[in-house]
Amino acid sequence: MTPVVPHPPLADYYDAPEEREHFVRDLFDDTAPWYDWSVAFLSFGSGGMYRRQALERAGLTKGARLLDVATGTGVVARAAAKITGDANAIVGMDPSIGMLIAGRPKARFSLVEGGGEHLPFRDESFDMISIGFAMRHFADLDTVFRECRRVLRPGGRMLILEITAPESRAARTFLGAYMGGVVPALATVIARDRKVGRMLAYYWATTRDCVRPSVILDALRGAGFSDVNRHVELGMFSEYGATK
Ligand SMILES: C[S@@+](CC[C@H](N)C(=O)[O-])C[C@H]1O[C@@H](n2cnc3c(N)ncnc32)[C@H](O)[C@@H]1O
Repeated sequence: MTPVVPHPPLADYYDAPEEREHFVRDLFDDTAPWYDWSVAFLSFGSGGMYRRQALERAGLTKGARLLDVATGTGVVARAAAKITGDANAIVGMDPSIGMLIAGRPKARFSLVEGGGEHLPFRDESFDMISIGFAMRHFADLDTVFRECRRVLRPGGRMLILEITAPESRAARTFLGAYMGGVVPALATVIARDRKVGRMLAYYWATTRDCVRPSVILDALRGAGFSDVNRHVELGMFSEYGATK
């Protein structure tokens, strides 16, 4: 099957499509100590609260078993633990060892190194799977969504958080100037590290060039999910939901 890629290759960041995976891993490994600061900086301190509210909207409840794919430093998983009340029932997974190490001091849940394309878990192991601001990094949405569906129990829920670039040209230009220009420049100065600014610039580039929501919704349906939907907060925070 033709892969459903989240965005076309970005020549400003790597020379060939095959280099994307290593580029992304190095990007997060190199900037991991600054990741939680970047989330707070971008969201004016509301990043953890927003993730918790989104998990509640998706139906996460006390006692649920949750897999947080692309957990990074564990921002979504930590928000989930506040709802489920049992960190032992949460697993965070990420291919960047740097991100996992940076998040480990704050994590009371299990951490697993790996990408969303191969989930090393038995069928029907989890009640919910979350993917926070990382879907854009997958090689193929169909492969990841099918793996997620496999490890979810029947009736289990998926929650995918993403920023969606606005349709309007004026709004896109304005957001691009802010997220792709002002934020990376300020972050470079504050962190005194060009890589942090580059990570945030890449965040905007992948947001700008990401496939439209209809492609993501179709990929979820194509992977066998039902009750596929998209809830939007503040015009650009997309919360994709689906049920096995
Ligand atoms: C922007 S961070 C998101 C971290 C966290 N989920 C959050 O909400 O803040 C993106 C994460 O996706 C991870 N990632 C990149 N490629 C991945 C893949 N193929 N499978 C799973 N995670 C991946 C990166 O290592 C990074 O930690």
